Parts: sequence; C-alpha cells; structure tokens
Amino acid sequence: MKNARFRLSIRICIFTFQILLGVIIVRNKDRHPSTLCVQGYHTQTSGPAVVPIVQSSTFVFENQKQMLDSVQGKSGGHVYTRWSNPTTKSVEEKISALEGTEDTHVLASGMAAISSAIFGVVKGGERILSSDSIYGGTVQLFNKILPQYGIHVDYVDTDEIVDKLMDSGGSYKLCFFETPTNPTLKIVDMKKVADAARTTGTISMIDSTFGSPINQRPYEFGVDLVMHSATKYLGGHSDIIAGTISGSKVMMTNVRSAAKLLGGTMDPFASFLLDRGIKTLGVRMERHNFNAKYLAEKLERNSRIRKVHYPGLSSHPHHDVARKQMDGFGGMLSIELDSDLAGTSKFVDSLEIFLNAVSLGGVESLASIPALTTHYGLNETALREMDIAESTVRLSVGIEDPSDLLFDLLSALDVLQ
Ligand SMILES: Cc1ncc(COP(=O)(O)O)c(C=O)c1O
Repeated sequence: MKNARFRLSIRICIFTFQILLGVIIVRNKDRHPSTLCVQGYHTQTSGPAVVPIVQSSTFVFENQKQMLDSVQGKSGGHVYTRWSNPTTKSVEEKISALEGTEDTHVLASGMAAISSAIFGVVKGGERILSSDSIYGGTVQLFNKILPQYGIHVDYVDTDEIVDKLMDSGGSYKLCFFETPTNPTLKIVDMKKVADAARTTGTISMIDSTFGSPINQRPYEFGVDLVMHSATKYLGGHSDIIAGTISGSKVMMTNVRSAAKLLGGTMDPFASFLLDRGIKTLGVRMERHNFNAKYLAEKLERNSRIRKVHYPGLSSHPHHDVARKQMDGFGGMLSIELDSDLAGTSKFVDSLEIFLNAVSLGGVESLASIPALTTHYGLNETALREMDIAESTVRLSVGIEDPSDLLFDLLSALDVLQ
C-alpha cells in the first residue's frame, strides 16, 4: 500500500514536471526530434519499413462516388500527383511533426515554397514588410515578380522589424524574415516579430532554412508560416532541390490552393530522397552544430582573421537571443580574412576538404565568397552596409572530422603569407 502510494506520488511528480517543462514533450506526444526524424508519429506494424515511392501521376477509383469524395477532399484519397501524392504526404506529415505545425506542403524548390505561400495569402494591392537580410533569389522575386501583380515590398533592417510593424498601423499583409541570416548570421527575435505581427493583424512568415527544425521551431514562438529550402539541411546530401511550407490548417488551405495551380510540384522520387535525408537530420545537425562551434572558437583566436560571425560565440551581438530560441547554433559561419579579394580567392582555392561551391546544409563542407557569388556586383560600400567585406568567406560546415576541417582552413591561411 505504502509502495503504491509512493509510486502514485512519483507519477504525479513526473507529470507535473512534464507540464512545467512543457511544450516539447506535449507537442511531440512524447517523441523527441531525433525519433520524429526517423519515424514521425507513425509506428509501422506491417508492410515495407521504408515509405514506398508511388511514382504515379494519377490514381484509379472504383466508381464516381469514390472519385468525387476524393476530389472534394472528403476521403483523403489521392487523385492527381500535382494535388497530392502518398510518398510526398508521408514526408509532409513528418515535417509537420518536427515543426509542431498542423500541416506542411512540400514543393519542388525553396523558391516554389516561397512563391506559393505568398501568392496563397497576399493579394494584389497588399503590401509586404521584409527584413533586408534575406536570400538573394527571394529579393529578386520580391523586386521583379511581385510588383507585376500589384504586390509591393518594403525592406527594413533586421533590428527594426518589430518597431516598423508596430508603427505600420496594420498596413502590411505579411511580414517576411530569415533567422539566422545569410551570410553574417544575424539573429532575429522570432517571438517579438510574431507578437508584433499578431498585434497588427499581419501574417508572419520565416525562411528557417539556416536553422533547421532541429535547432529552431518558429511555430512554437507564434510565427504563422515556416518555410525551408529543403535542398539544404532537410535533404542534407546535396542531391535534391526541394522546399517546404508549414503552418496551421487554415493558413495552409490558401497556400495549397495556390501551389496546386502554380504547379511547383515535388516529384515522388525526390520526396523519397527527402524523407531518407530527414531520417538522419537529428544526428547530422548535432555534428554540424558541434563542428561549426569548434571552428568558430578556434578561428576567433586567429590573428589572420578579422571577424568570425557565428551565433554560438558569446561575442556575437545577438548571442542571448540565439540562446533563447535555438537548441543548437547551426552549421553556418562566416569569417572575414585580413586580406583583399585576391587573397581571399587564393584562400578558398587552396582549401581541399571545403569544396568551392555555393549552397549549404549538406554533409560535405563548402566555402564560398559572397562578394563573388550571392552578392556579386555590389561595390564595397554596399557590401559594408550589409556587414559583408570582400574578404568575407561563408562556410557551410559539414559533418567531416572537425580537426581535419580546422587543418584545412589553417593550411589555406598559411598560403596567404
Ligand atoms: C536561405 C535560402 N532560402 C531559400 C533558398 C531557395 O531555395 P531553393 O534553391 O531550394 O529554391 C535558398 C537557396 O539557396 C536559401 O539559401
């Protein structure tokens, strides 16, 4: 009897502790991110252990009643792969589980995800407020394509998004931002932006690509739409182009309608590869996080490097915000060499393990010079305004041995002397 009472009080203690600890345990229905990466919420009881590739554009029905139920979305049946597909649906459910959202749509690229989301929720005549620190392709979409449809975008410094929203009097339909940003790894306070957006009746949307759902889950902070270029960490092996957009069922209804007609549909085979990539996302991110922090700390002490941008360093201006909202600081870091553009090019060309390529988030380490790639054509003053120098090198730190990576970087620095 004493024992039973003891066990009961232990259970009550654990339960209270879980409630106090809160969100993650409840949100994940007791499954943690690494488990969700492998299985989502599913427990396979029979059939194939791996999600089959349903490489079919269309689906057959026994009769018109069945067909109509599926067309009307009553039965959850698949009709046509541009609308939905079993392989893609399976990876969508897994991503929703990881992000903590009600729904996710997977598309053929990050750009397809951004454009489908925006055309889904913003109409001609409405305005968007965007952080000025966002991916170059998104800037081009905002500046070249959206105005043709009567949608105009105003830009604001990452530190001023909240004030600008609060002063807007609710005149923005959508607020778009990234965190961490490219290439200087600035951090935006997700909760503050989400709260300000809610207060002003604005939809908040984040490009969370640099973070990954292992390191940050913006929906938990109140952000309405969470987007990823799944080409990067989610896929993780530099072998697919893919995008995701996640949010509430209501918000996603409009996004899905637009996506269905814009047609940036994910191919089932690519969905299979994405699912396979996500299975190792948890362990990959642990290694990306570890390697990048290790390199950042070592390089910060190197006299041939002027600056290291990494949110995991206590010297980073937004380190406290990063600690509050991230579970790991990510695999991206930027270094500013004590050199000019020619020297910086020589440095990158001398690297052996870090490959000379754009993109990011794969298992292999990559190095690129923003002034010659993502920010090509901007003069030194324009670059400086963005805190980028001609000698800034962006590193996507992979999962190789950290001491090999450090040796590679130090050997390339030696070439500069
Ligand atoms: C932060 C970020 N967002 C979006 C994109 C676009 O994604 P995709 O190339 O998959 O269309 C990229 C591509 O590099 C990116 O780096």
